[in-house]
Amino acid sequence: MTNKKSILSLMRPTGKLHLGHYLGVLTNWVKLQEENECFFGIADWHALTTKFDETDSLAKNTFEVLADWLSSGIDPEKSTIYLQSLIPETAKLHVYLSMITPMNWAQRDPTLKDMVKIMNNKGENEETFSYGLIGYPILMAADILTFNADFVPVGIDQVAHIEIARDIARRFNNVYKTELLKEPAPKLTEIPLLKGLDGNKMGKSFKNDIKISDSSDETAKKIMTAITDRSRLRKTDLGHPDECEVVFPYWKIFGTKTDTDEISAACSKGEIGCADCKRRLACKVNEKLALVREKRKFFEEHPDELKQIIYDGSKKARIKAKEVLAKVEETVKVYR
Ligand code: TRP
Repeated sequence: MTNKKSILSLMRPTGKLHLGHYLGVLTNWVKLQEENECFFGIADWHALTTKFDETDSLAKNTFEVLADWLSSGIDPEKSTIYLQSLIPETAKLHVYLSMITPMNWAQRDPTLKDMVKIMNNKGENEETFSYGLIGYPILMAADILTFNADFVPVGIDQVAHIEIARDIARRFNNVYKTELLKEPAPKLTEIPLLKGLDGNKMGKSFKNDIKISDSSDETAKKIMTAITDRSRLRKTDLGHPDECEVVFPYWKIFGTKTDTDEISAACSKGEIGCADCKRRLACKVNEKLALVREKRKFFEEHPDELKQIIYDGSKKARIKAKEVLAKVEETVKVYR
């Protein structure tokens, strides 16, 4: 047994990931896997809670996410990378947890309110909400507790869910007079604020994102559309890097300190125009992503490799999942 801390997080397979995911989530996971026992899962069941009728792209999106993870440095030798639907133990645990979770814990979940909006857009209302969607946080608790994870790295929007998972673990332990389930702690991911190219939050539905998998040309084209200092009409007008909402912050992330100082000085003196500045920025972004994209290309050309990795990882995950489930069933006293 190791005394490493166990870390677990999942992502819903919504398709190709963007640079916000890369910088905000994946680089953090890559660091975490060096010193912890990490489980990273693709939550295809959670995708079904809202997209139960859009399943044609489910497997494709799963493999897009997996390819993005692997090319960003999530390493199957270091982390256990798995697919939620390949872990039947999580479904079983979900059943047991459902029995002890008061209905109103799920209903008061604030994220459910966002779901209401999504479902309203689909022409559904709370009356037609599925049982599975209400159970979203309980399934999430099952994900975490299947592996008895210590920490769950997530964005701020998911913290309420982790709180419910803690409540459920505590209630299970109280009901069955055990200390079996650990109360998982959220580990807040500090998301470097990478805005979308139009200055809004980066997101694929806003069409303002740069994908990890975009080519250098696509990246450059997109960056050329980024908004800049609006008060600057001519190249020789003096620029205001600190008021430049998108391009200058990108420089700070993708350029060295020297690059950033140089560009800032040239802009302020009116020596470089916005188009030139963006052209140079695109080179920096592409340089930084070159290796990641090279790896991604490899996986695109070797889909069998991806399948093998997710099967092997899920098999490895099940070893731990079965251990926990055996103890849960012993505790609940179901016949085994
Ligand atoms: N709900 C999470 C999201 O949308 C994904 C998720 C599913 C998850 N199960 C989890 C995250 C367990 C952390 C732990 O991002």
